[in-house]
Amino acid sequence: MLQAIWFESIGSTQDYIKSHINELLDDTVVVANLQTNGRGRYGHVWYSSLKEGLYFSILKKYLNIDSLSLIVGVSLFKTIKNIYGFEPLIKWPNDIYILLEKPKKVAGILIERSKENTIIGIGVNLNQEDFPQDISIMATSLKLFSGKSVEKKYFLSTFFEAFYEDIRYFSMYGFEAFRTIINDHLLYKNKLVSANDGKVCGILKEVDKSGNIIIETNKHKMSLNAGELNSIRAQESW
Ligand code: BTN
Repeated sequence: MLQAIWFESIGSTQDYIKSHINELLDDTVVVANLQTNGRGRYGHVWYSSLKEGLYFSILKKYLNIDSLSLIVGVSLFKTIKNIYGFEPLIKWPNDIYILLEKPKKVAGILIERSKENTIIGIGVNLNQEDFPQDISIMATSLKLFSGKSVEKKYFLSTFFEAFYEDIRYFSMYGFEAFRTIINDHLLYKNKLVSANDGKVCGILKEVDKSGNIIIETNKHKMSLNAGELNSIRAQESW
């Protein structure tokens, strides 16, 4: 049974869970209409000043899944497909993109662990109609793309249905079905990418059975289990 705590404004839903972790039950969801200190991966800021965005974190106790960010990505993929009727792209390891004149981000996932606790933070560009210019270069919203406004509660309940089903399925059958969905909708697949701050450069082939990314360089195939991928192509052909 989910317990939800909903704030009008908070620093970060992620930090709220961290600082109240001993009082919160497994499966607590913390949602905020605004965040004043929204955080992304690698210390990036997650722009959270618009109340039309969806910002939430989930506390999971004793959930030990290596490829969790990929599973959550698939749950978000299914949520978007189910609500809006189109298939977004999955950027390894944990972002959701839409292909416009260039790919733009619509959701990001931040997973943090301490001892037996996992905190899954998700930011979705849901109903925003405008972004500051520096953000609109790389991000868009589901509303801007589809024309459709979606209630946060409806998005959340659709997501949680997919997420709990996906965790159950994963624990019974493993990663393979998720891998297929990811590889069929993988951003930059067969394109030239760089990873590890440009130390690895090559063609992005696929996500393997362990959730690692395979990049084919001119010397060999490399498998990476973490990192940030960037396209090193000009934007002429996505
Ligand atoms: C990323 O793309 O780098 C991950 C972004 C995660 C943002 C969400 S919004 C809700 C939760 N609270 C935070 O401070 N961050 C996550």
